Amino acid sequence: MAATQQSRPTTERETWGGRRAFIIAAISSAIGLGNIWRFPGVAYENGGGAFLIPYLVAFVTAGLPILFLDYAIGHKYRSAPPLAFRRMNRKAEPLGWWQVGVSYLILTYYSVVIAWALSFVVFSFGREWGDDAPAFFTQQYLSLSDAPNPTLAFVPGVLVTLLIVWIGAVAVMSLGLRRGLDRANKLTLPALVGVFTILVAYSLTLPGAWDGVNQFFQPDFAALADPAVWIAAYGHIFFSFSIAFGIMLTYSSYLKRRSDLTGSGSVVAFANCSFELLAGIGVFAALGFLAHSQSVAIDELEGIVGVGLAFMTFPTILSQMPAGAVMGVIFFSALVLAGFTSLLSIYQVVQGAVQDKFGWTSRRSALTVGIAAGIPSVLLFATTSGLHALDVLDAFVNNIGVTFSAVVMLVLVAWVLRQVGPLARHLNAVSSIRVGALWKAAVMAITPVVIATILIRGAWHYIADGYGGYPGWYLFLFGWGPIALLAVFSFAMSYRQYRRSGADSFESDEVDEPVGVVAGMPPGTSSLPRPYLEP
Ligand code: ALA
Repeated sequence: MAATQQSRPTTERETWGGRRAFIIAAISSAIGLGNIWRFPGVAYENGGGAFLIPYLVAFVTAGLPILFLDYAIGHKYRSAPPLAFRRMNRKAEPLGWWQVGVSYLILTYYSVVIAWALSFVVFSFGREWGDDAPAFFTQQYLSLSDAPNPTLAFVPGVLVTLLIVWIGAVAVMSLGLRRGLDRANKLTLPALVGVFTILVAYSLTLPGAWDGVNQFFQPDFAALADPAVWIAAYGHIFFSFSIAFGIMLTYSSYLKRRSDLTGSGSVVAFANCSFELLAGIGVFAALGFLAHSQSVAIDELEGIVGVGLAFMTFPTILSQMPAGAVMGVIFFSALVLAGFTSLLSIYQVVQGAVQDKFGWTSRRSALTVGIAAGIPSVLLFATTSGLHALDVLDAFVNNIGVTFSAVVMLVLVAWVLRQVGPLARHLNAVSSIRVGALWKAAVMAITPVVIATILIRGAWHYIADGYGGYPGWYLFLFGWGPIALLAVFSFAMSYRQYRRSGADSFESDEVDEPVGVVAGMPPGTSSLPRPYLEP
């Protein structure tokens, strides 16, 4: 292809400083808004303690296997999703652009939730929401319009913090992988773990806290018979693990050749789940306190799920809590810290794809992506109708965009291109934990079937019942429309040539890999079998 003959100036592909930097980056990506306010609400809605069973099953059969699959593809083909899939098979490139498109859409609204959290850090000092936190959030802060109709009536409070988030993100991403992303992760993750531990420990000392924790772990085994509970568990795992929409694939592409993929992945998965459970305990301890102070049962409380939990219920709790202002600053700072590093990881998917395709520097591609995602983010979500648009886009992108990406990736890789064997060998050649029949079964059979079911049910539900009571034209504008545009974008981008010299002429160098060499182990000392000699 002509791309290989065009010798434009190109930048060296950066790598993480080492295994530690990669693990910190991957954990920082996984721990995000999804862990702190999404998980406790989803768990509570879907059987409380009993939800932990489907959650663990989804973790083992989908979370870990797809995490390893993402790592294997990114690491073997050493690029962001479009080029990685193209290198696997030229016709597979659109799937990569689909993942980039999904990440781009998530980028536009994920930044807004961080902006809200940033505003609430400031509001917490004076507990400005007063006695009616829900009204403060929707009416005073968001000036939320009754009708969802798009408008250019900006909300100054959201606009300012959103611009701060975008400027911060562009600034970090312009510095590149090591000087920007890596440093941001290393500063943020310890701070997040520190503030969150204080918050959880403090919550557990409040009256009623342990009733809340008991409620969280109280199993409702009848819920296990409900397929919706299983669907919720699998759906949550994708978002929480940052898998199947390009993030982990892109991050692993910056790993050095000899990197322990499955060992690192297990650390990341364990850390993410631990943080998620910690968040569940902390949030339910706080809800237990709220129920205690209002003399009601926890299941009589409203607003335990979604946006309501963080921005309405939590401020209500903080109003009644001793030291509520300090705890508010801590809670919303934790949301900002967790969200910001996840935002950077989503940004890197788009930026990495742009760099692969055009051979631009970090600064140029960070700025281009920042402008391309920041402008619609501001125009759509910093307005009085922003929450409506966010609600619909988030539902469609997650439930249709991400699940579709996961199903297509699994079917394509496992059944069309028959890459599961070679990818397993790649993982086993460099990793400390070997994958075998169980991993193959998960990737080839269990997970595609479960996710295809989720996708079909979800799509059918939206077609038959709509979503959230929004009019059909609105669902088209912010739901089906972006999904259709994703498809067009994926194929259109795949037709464009690669401008980075040599990008398109990749040949996997796996056969040259020293057998059984794992990071930190001298060559020849590994007890790993000789995977490349396997038939
Ligand atoms: N994994 C990230 C989160 O949980 C995207 O928010």
